[in-house]
Amino acid sequence: MKEAEQGKWDADHYDTQMHFVSKLGRGVVELLGPVQGESVLDLGCGTGSLAGQMALLGAEVTGVDFSETMIEQARLKYPELLFEVGDARTYRSGRKFDAVFSNAALHWVPQADEAARTVAEALRPGGRFAAEFGGFGNVARIERAIHEAVREEGIDPEPRNPWYYPTIGEYTGVLERAGLDVRFAERFDRPTELPGGEEAIRHWLHAFAGSFLAGTDAAARERITQSVEERLRPELFRDGTWTGDYCRIRVLAWKPQG
Ligand code: BEZ
Repeated sequence: MKEAEQGKWDADHYDTQMHFVSKLGRGVVELLGPVQGESVLDLGCGTGSLAGQMALLGAEVTGVDFSETMIEQARLKYPELLFEVGDARTYRSGRKFDAVFSNAALHWVPQADEAARTVAEALRPGGRFAAEFGGFGNVARIERAIHEAVREEGIDPEPRNPWYYPTIGEYTGVLERAGLDVRFAERFDRPTELPGGEEAIRHWLHAFAGSFLAGTDAAARERITQSVEERLRPELFRDGTWTGDYCRIRVLAWKPQG
């Protein structure tokens, strides 16, 4: 993903308002099951919270993220861990890892075949890949509301949409084309409470929907935000809480022994 395309990532905002992302990602750490001494590449590590958790379990974690601001924050939080700025499509370290892990990142990478080649290239023979990200239908209501609100301003949302939400069938094909052996794949709805009370949908848009708003002035951004809020309120706001219509894909795949 291009940081500039989606509006610069705000790492402080991400950690204070979007901490549920790494909280929900703990299940993916369990899916991977890193053990003492294993080398793990965390692809799309954000501000490093899950890399930190895997390190506590004894793994030697390298975190990679496209966003410089996220990596700066990760280095501040976990100075003892290795973090690098890198693109999931092209990252090559020359190292072979026991495992590759990714949470809530791959839906930002529509070039899924390229990202899967990065994963396969990074794994040693016999190494494994565990990932979770947005699956087909993820945040469909939020996405539709953004599209409608942006169109009202005379902006075509399609080329600004940064997200990739494949079906399981599509994604297991991606992994198989990269030479990985998929042993587990599931897609499930996970309605997700967004923190921040009445303001939560604004926080979410601020954190994640920057690419739709790029180049607009403050007044247009406010109109778009209000329009999105009004469209979604009847569906996603109840008793003071906004709930995102999240839908996840989880996969576990191995690189064959060779
Ligand atoms: C997600 O985690 O599913 C997600 C987060 C931000 C924007 C879009 C989707």
